[in-house]
Amino acid sequence: MNEKYKKICEVVKADLERVNKNIFLSSELRPELEKELDKFLNAPSKRIRSLMTILYLRASKMYLIPAHYELLAAVELIHNASLIHDDVIDESGIRRGQETLNSKFDNQLAVISGDYLLGCALKKLVKIGSIPVMDIFADTVKIMCIGEVNQYFNRFKKINIEDYIEKSCQKTGALFESVLKSSIILAGSDVDEKSIEFASNFGLAFQIRDDLLNVINKDKSKVSSDIEKGIYNAPTILADNLNDGIEKTKDLLNNYVNCAKQCVNDFEENTYKAALIELLELLENV
Ligand code: IPE
Ligand code: MG
Repeated sequence: MNEKYKKICEVVKADLERVNKNIFLSSELRPELEKELDKFLNAPSKRIRSLMTILYLRASKMYLIPAHYELLAAVELIHNASLIHDDVIDESGIRRGQETLNSKFDNQLAVISGDYLLGCALKKLVKIGSIPVMDIFADTVKIMCIGEVNQYFNRFKKINIEDYIEKSCQKTGALFESVLKSSIILAGSDVDEKSIEFASNFGLAFQIRDDLLNVINKDKSKVSSDIEKGIYNAPTILADNLNDGIEKTKDLLNNYVNCAKQCVNDFEENTYKAALIELLELLENV
């Protein structure tokens, strides 16, 4: 995590600490697995879904209630479950600077661990007691899987950019949208088009940046790159005979960042809005 990112986190430090307090395991697993799962949950994560949501709520003067911290913890657990499964799918050996669960144990135990975290997330959502919120996440988990399935069936196919965007919306954008939407519902406010648009542009920008880093190879934690696995992402799709697709992908990324910025343009100026804009600008910084 870079220094600028840490400074943005400082703006909502107490909120992020409350989210982290809600991410814990309840000593019901075999200790040898629980220890490793706990290490994974506490390894350096950006908690970017929580950060984006808290900044947005505070920037738009919405109040956070205890249920928000449960919800954000549930979202981080869903995200972590998806990462554990993703590492199985991608046969990755390192994540967040440490050995992945599939590498420490095996695929079997990693799959079960991801399912277990999903169960922990469901418990939290039930505790919140909102059927509309539960419905949002039931759909979201399905959509995330559909994105991953689409990616699987498109391996070694040069898909077009529209298909890439659709897959990214499903795989990544959906969770960003849902966390903001459900948080606004919990705050008792109306979910407007702008907020959904903000979160979906934010999520897409985030995924495009991740895929760009994969190609530029700053992401040393990955054993093999997407292209080696037959996955065509923006930089490969946008490449033509003369150029690699990196510059074009940066333009695409800027476009989504700018769209997200537009969505919060009318917010009154405050430290939270400033931090949210800085966070968006960090995404552009590849
Ligand atoms: C990585 O997610 C997978 C993507 C959706 C690109 P994050 O980059 O949010 O993972 P952590 O939680 O910070 O490790
Ligand atoms: Mg993957």
